[in-house]
Amino acid sequence: MPPRKLHIKSYGCQMNVYDAQRMADALAPEGYVETASAEDADLVILNTCHIREKASEKVYSELGRLRAAKDQAARDGRGMSVVVAGCVAQAEGEEIIRRAPVVDVVVGPQSYHHLPELLARAKAAGRALETEFPVADKFGFLPQPSRQAIRARGISAFVTVQEGCDKFCTFCVVPYTRGAEVSRPVAKIAEDVQRLADNGVREITLIGQNVNAYHGEGPDGRPWPFGKLLYRLAEIPGIVRLRYSTSHPRDVEDSLIDAHRHLDALMPFVHLPVQSGSDRILAAMNRRHSASDYRRVIDRFRHARQDIAFSSDFIVGFPGETEEDFAATLALVGQIGYAAAYSFKYSPRPGTPAAELREAVSTADMDARLERLQKLIDSQQSAFNRTALGRTIDVLFERAGRKPGQIAGRTPYLQPAHVEASDAIIGQVLPVTVASLERYSLFGTLASIPASPAPLAPGEAQFQTTAGV
Ligand code: SAH
Ligand code: SF4
Ligand code: F3S
Repeated sequence: MPPRKLHIKSYGCQMNVYDAQRMADALAPEGYVETASAEDADLVILNTCHIREKASEKVYSELGRLRAAKDQAARDGRGMSVVVAGCVAQAEGEEIIRRAPVVDVVVGPQSYHHLPELLARAKAAGRALETEFPVADKFGFLPQPSRQAIRARGISAFVTVQEGCDKFCTFCVVPYTRGAEVSRPVAKIAEDVQRLADNGVREITLIGQNVNAYHGEGPDGRPWPFGKLLYRLAEIPGIVRLRYSTSHPRDVEDSLIDAHRHLDALMPFVHLPVQSGSDRILAAMNRRHSASDYRRVIDRFRHARQDIAFSSDFIVGFPGETEEDFAATLALVGQIGYAAAYSFKYSPRPGTPAAELREAVSTADMDARLERLQKLIDSQQSAFNRTALGRTIDVLFERAGRKPGQIAGRTPYLQPAHVEASDAIIGQVLPVTVASLERYSLFGTLASIPASPAPLAPGEAQFQTTAGV
């Protein structure tokens, strides 16, 4: 039988990227091989994101295009199955099939291991849908998610440590689409990391909606905090870099700070979303931390590792946000000094408490605020990147670059870096002296001397005086 062609299109966060690989691995024994185009695929999976309206609506325009491709496939005498997975599948369920009859299977993030079975069911019955969440037992415990590890696909890989979120920020759909927080046991995660390392992976990014809420079962039968898990994983031979995403400012325990102080493999670059710099808005968002709580958390990290840098997420135009609130956000960004950050216009999501709030900020105000914030973030990012010029920085080389003879990798701060070298350096961490900067990418030469200590993040000096801790 010729191999069947599978095309997966993913939207949204790193968890979806990981899940796409997991689905591909689950379908490989059924003879599915991945293909780059949807048109000639036998099976197309849209792995969707529900976080903002724009993300959700993309699914329906994509399904419109797929209808034409499916009709063409039928005329060519071959079939095409269409699956909607991910957070829109979880949130909208059957509604998707009603709106887009082209869809054969709707599957929520907790049910991907049933995909082969769901495809068979759809073949027999026309349609299949599964968006159940695991049910808690009589003691209120949720079953551990049965996530088989993905196969190694290069030098860097994701590993899920927890899934779901119990925070219920008032703007956010994640607690509804990914369910309650569930942590995987330490031994399972260590096993996955070990296997990936044995297959050539050198860098692991631990992922979850809220990784530092981690409290998975340790080998001693007790729940382990996230920092302790990092210590365990740093022992695994072959793993030279550890990262994690996303973390919540409220769950930064001392064990995590301590891991940053002591583990060389733990990269000094932390994504720590704050959303707003206004205490009034933070309270309305149910973030359960103030701007100064956040500054204190940043300060604890910086005391543990002076070369640490941060990225963040921001929402502008949350209902009721005034110019004064927004000014507090700009002030916070100025105080922290980010190496990078993402900012979004508030998007009301069905079913979330904030969607009920009045006092919407006008589109014009939102646009203007987003532009001002992004300008400030961009200038910080450029300043941060410029501090790399002339320095020698460790780069983990991952793949051939775009130009022949070029090898590409990343710095500890995830900046893309390129050198001219043989591909024998792929998989190694080597010092690179940075000669030039092109947009966000660094270019340089392999250095014979070890890397110099990394630069301070912009704004740090200012931050230390304002925080006064
Ligand atoms: N778990 C992470 C990230 C969740 S989603 C955290 O705790 O921060 C990623 C980002 O999308 C969020 O940090 C937030 O900035 C943004 N986001 C979430 N819901 C949104 C909404 N309704 N409108 C606009 N942006 C939103
Ligand atoms: Fe959403 Fe808040 Fe949970 Fe992050 S912490 S996933 S923003 S509810
Ligand atoms: Fe989107 Fe779901 Fe991730 S809503 S951001 S794909 S958890």
